[in-house]
Amino acid sequence: MIKKTTAAITAVGGYVPPDKLTNADLEKMVDTNDEWIRTRTGIVERRILKGEGKASSDLGAPAVLELCHKRGIDPKEIDCLICCTVTPDMLFPATANIICDKIGATNAFGFDLNAACSGFLFGVTTGAAFIESGRYKKVVVVGADKMSSIVDYTDRTTCILFGDAAGAILLEPNHEGYGLLDSILKSDGSGRHYLYQKAGGSQRPASHETVDNKEHFIYQEGQPVFKFAVKGMADVSAELLERNNLTGDDIAWLVPHQANKRIIDATANRMGLSPDKVMLNIHRYGNTTAATIPLCLWDYKHDINKGDLIVLAAFGGGFTWGASLIKWEY
Ligand code: UT7
Repeated sequence: MIKKTTAAITAVGGYVPPDKLTNADLEKMVDTNDEWIRTRTGIVERRILKGEGKASSDLGAPAVLELCHKRGIDPKEIDCLICCTVTPDMLFPATANIICDKIGATNAFGFDLNAACSGFLFGVTTGAAFIESGRYKKVVVVGADKMSSIVDYTDRTTCILFGDAAGAILLEPNHEGYGLLDSILKSDGSGRHYLYQKAGGSQRPASHETVDNKEHFIYQEGQPVFKFAVKGMADVSAELLERNNLTGDDIAWLVPHQANKRIIDATANRMGLSPDKVMLNIHRYGNTTAATIPLCLWDYKHDINKGDLIVLAAFGGGFTWGASLIKWEY
């Protein structure tokens, strides 16, 4: 009997730039304080990619190279590279192409995927479909965001939240039931006005006016996004457990998007998970958008065991949200 092909995660890579932006640094830049940031978000410091001309591909490329090194493969063996990002190096061509060029992945086709903070989740499900179809053998999904390139460092409501980083995974075929088991993904464009970049696209191209009005920075209405995020992430994670006949006891790890510790706690509560089963690194990196989930996997790689059931969950701009169930392969 031919066994079903699933897409297993066979390697993880990550990259954070060395420069730190701490809460104490932000206190000198805007009217904020360490206590407010810690209690409202859980963030203590974030990383910032510095250097003229440095871009999201400079975060993604080392993360993918680390993954290749760990798996012992040449980048030329990669069939497809999906780069999840809201801060592409440029509007076109895709940052995926630039990463492939920088690492020598000359046999891969690549494209960018924009689902904001849910990007990595959407990317994993998309990449897994390429593997499950039998068409490709090595698919890389990399979340890479240089959020500092679109943050207004005079706006205290957003500048405390975001950081720069990349995380990547390799997907390969598996015939023993490991890998992506199920996903629930959702989009609702009616929520787009709560969290977005107003200008720079075809609707409102860059002009002196858009620059003067600071319309190329992140715009967020924090409270409504918070409310939708708590409900969206918790609902979908609970639904994923229910339809797979699982309870919190069956889950080894929740890997939540790291936007706000309070949103993460609400999701874990709803799933009946104790805090020790929740991957958390928001205090060190802040919200790195598409990179948060693979960066958690990278940070916790020594704590995951073969056969562990893991739930990835995210909520972000768009709105986009979802949850995925994974059986860990190595
Ligand atoms: O990853 C993509 C999805 N994004 C999210 O999931 C983010 C969701 N939203 C949030 O995480 C929270 O809404 C924030 C962390 C952004 C804000 O926390 P909040 O508890 O919703 O605060 P708030 O916006 O209700 O503001 C409360 C007060 C306000 O002052 P008044 O009006 O009560 O006097 C703000 O002006 O806190 C003030 N405030 C600050 N104070 C010190 C806002 N930002 C700051 C700050 N430092 N940085």
